[in-house]
Amino acid sequence: MAILPIARMGQPVLRLRAEEVPDPTAPEIETLVADMIETMRAVNGAGIAAPQVFVSKRVVIFTVPPSRSTGDEFDQPQGLTAIVNPVIEPLTEETDVGWEGCLSVPGMRGIVPRIKKLRYRGVSPEGEAIDRIATGWHARVVQHEFDHLDGILYPQRMTDLGLLGFVEELEAVARGTPEASILAAED
Ligand code: NI
Repeated sequence: MAILPIARMGQPVLRLRAEEVPDPTAPEIETLVADMIETMRAVNGAGIAAPQVFVSKRVVIFTVPPSRSTGDEFDQPQGLTAIVNPVIEPLTEETDVGWEGCLSVPGMRGIVPRIKKLRYRGVSPEGEAIDRIATGWHARVVQHEFDHLDGILYPQRMTDLGLLGFVEELEAVARGTPEASILAAED
């Protein structure tokens, strides 16, 4: 296993449409996922997509930490999920706004609208089908990570760039409120 360098905004790999993986169970994908897990843990992230480690393939890992779960039926804490060739099907047109950060946009947070409820499908590196419904933060992290596979970073989803800021400043302003811990949480 290895900790991989993380591509930051400005790197062309983050703007590409990543390639489908012909065989999700290939040994190289297993190695990639193991390295992505080690990299994500080293920087205390909640999710990372392969293009963020300079690999333009449709592979994503994420968790839903208990601190982020709203407790909704489809927003339960999720252990580590690795998913290859994921697809999203929106189950509503309704959106919700919430803070997001990104390992490729370090030190910043922004308010991003996301679809409230969706279904996502893909394959695990063990070859098992993944088919889940997600709401709340679970739906948010899935949309954020899957966007990386289409070359999209969260600021491109923002409708008001005035709500993009440096986490240190945002945290200082929010100190003492519940929002402060959300801002300080993992990317
Ligand atoms: Ni990201």
